[in-house]
Amino acid sequence: MTSRYHEVYEAWQKNPEAFWAEAAKEIDWYRPWDKVFDPYAGQYGRWFAGAECNTAYNCLDRHVEKGRGSQAALIYDSPVTNTVRTYSYAELRDEVATLAAVLSDLGVKRGDRVIIYMPMIPEALMAMLACARIGAVHSVVFGGFAAPELATRLDDAKPVAILSASCGIEPGRVVAYKPLLDAAIEIATHKPTSVLVLQRPMAQASLVEGRDHDWARAVAVAKAAGSKAGCVAVKATDPLYILYTSGTTGQPKGVVRDNGGHMVALKWSMSHHYGIAPGEVFWAASDVGWVVGHSYIVYAPLLHGSTTVLFEGKPVGTPDAGTFWRVISQHKVAALFTAPTAFRAIKKEDPQGTFIGKYDMTGFRTLFLAGERADPETIKWAEAKLNVPVYDHWWQTETGWPICGNPVGLGAMPVKYGSPTVPMPGYDLHVLDAAGHEVKPGETGTLAVKLPLPPCCLPTLWNNDDRFRKSYLSDFAGYYTTSDAGYRDEDGYVYVMARTDDVINVAGHRLSTGQMEEVVAKHKDVAECAVVGIADTMKGQVPAGFIVLNAGVNRPTKEIEAEVVKLVRDEIGPVAAFKSVMTVKRLPKTRSGKILRATMRQIADGETWKVPATIDDPASLEEIGETLKSYGFSKQG
Ligand code: COA
Ligand code: AMP
Repeated sequence: MTSRYHEVYEAWQKNPEAFWAEAAKEIDWYRPWDKVFDPYAGQYGRWFAGAECNTAYNCLDRHVEKGRGSQAALIYDSPVTNTVRTYSYAELRDEVATLAAVLSDLGVKRGDRVIIYMPMIPEALMAMLACARIGAVHSVVFGGFAAPELATRLDDAKPVAILSASCGIEPGRVVAYKPLLDAAIEIATHKPTSVLVLQRPMAQASLVEGRDHDWARAVAVAKAAGSKAGCVAVKATDPLYILYTSGTTGQPKGVVRDNGGHMVALKWSMSHHYGIAPGEVFWAASDVGWVVGHSYIVYAPLLHGSTTVLFEGKPVGTPDAGTFWRVISQHKVAALFTAPTAFRAIKKEDPQGTFIGKYDMTGFRTLFLAGERADPETIKWAEAKLNVPVYDHWWQTETGWPICGNPVGLGAMPVKYGSPTVPMPGYDLHVLDAAGHEVKPGETGTLAVKLPLPPCCLPTLWNNDDRFRKSYLSDFAGYYTTSDAGYRDEDGYVYVMARTDDVINVAGHRLSTGQMEEVVAKHKDVAECAVVGIADTMKGQVPAGFIVLNAGVNRPTKEIEAEVVKLVRDEIGPVAAFKSVMTVKRLPKTRSGKILRATMRQIADGETWKVPATIDDPASLEEIGETLKSYGFSKQG
């Protein structure tokens, strides 16, 4: 089939409002919009201004009303607890309506924020939808973050309530959540009124009298009383959620997602980008703590009337490198979406792909990869072993859905390894030089989207319009900067090569090296430091810290380095994967005192590097190479 991509993209270019108005017919609205796009509202305009809707209604109730009540909405598959549980659309709607009633009883009202700090269990998804049902704004915090990170989010979002569980399960260890949560509440200035805690059998959380409530008991009481909350009509432009993400400083950015545009773009993407029909099974092997989990574990598959899989496990070790194929086969998954790092982990354990042959995967059609650049070797391995097309696609927490992808539903375009293919309708993508001029095909520049951003993309940052404008709209007038650098080829295929800021991508997780530096610098013996992301065959990148000690410190450096590692783990969390610290005499700097992080990374990755003309002392770069060698990093030359 030849792709209809160009025809559809041109139709969008010709009349964006007509394009999105047509797509919006797939959503049920309580009140239609006054304007498809109001260019005078918000920071760069707002989509579906004046419309009213409810996201939970569109995810659940309307499917039940239209005859999908007995179809599976959610399959919870948890190899770490040996559990598989299925919820039909009718069952999930009832669970969500009951939990929403519990939240209302706890005093949560439309517009209030609710923090969700939970592992990958059905109740996490129910919690998100219960908030959506009553018009509350959820903010999910990934379980791998430490208490201070959670506290920062508490102080920014100022939640009325927190929904949590007693623990998460990592291979080989139970992670007790409640002590982390209690510590975060202790650190934070803002205190929530209520905390609802789901007790899991692997760990019992102690409850604080008057503030904490037992989840199961509260739900049982509501069920016995027949309490269910209805869907509240909210504005299309009201926030559905806040999701904090890393970038440039230690203070995470609260990405805001609205209700209306979010639904329209996600629904469109399910059929046109992912090529999935309602009723089919779609599996995003991510975590609800990340944007991929928000969009493609929870909202998009349910908006579409598909079945979603919530997987509590890892690609390897739970119990083996065949677990993905077991899930695909057992639940008849049509398409899988995960990060390339998951495939690198599987390939490392099972290079021949022998586990694949053990499962019947005849219904499996497509593999989608995102979260980091899909390296051609990984794509080729997956294609060869799975015998299905493998498509890279590029997006960000800020956009909530793909900027570039291969639109399977419109007919796939030929794959070019290393490229996430082409911009989706809605994105007028440009490659700009530092002065904001378009560069020629093949030349690298900043990838920027001409405003307005399409529906679903962030309208602003939570309570911080200024930071939104400064971070995203001020580099190039009239454009949103993605902070990714890349190029376009003669055929219009896009290549995303590197971040232009301090963000690194570790096992598909977005982290800020600047934030890590802020934490490392807190160590009493550290005079100054630099953290750079260095190449890692499995995780893509891992952070490496370089520290200069204060004069007079004469403790063993190994001891201090271990303390610095622990500090980052305690302050940011295990997810930072911060395990390497090297003590150096000095950091390489320019004459004006700027640390040469980019050159340090090039040395660590064994790339060819040039001595910057502005360097203070060229020998300082040689010293970095020597240090890396002495700490066992072999790549530098
Ligand atoms: N709660 C608590 N701790 C967590 C956690 C969670 N939800 N998620 C991860 N961690 C911990 C891990 O246990 C690990 O701890 P350790 O240092 O004690 O070993 C640490 O954080 C780093 O985790 P991770 O980077 O995920 O490494 P890993 O070795 O555990 O697993 C992969 C590596 C590749 C298997 C795993 O990262 C993966 O499946 N990635 C998929 C990426 C993904 O989902 N991306 C989202 C966008 S698509
Ligand atoms: P996150 O906000 O966590 O989704 O991370 C977004 C960032 O991850 C992007 O800005 C890119 O730097 C990187 N990224 C995501 N997907 C891709 C991809 N397919 N190719 C290259 N980089 C990607």
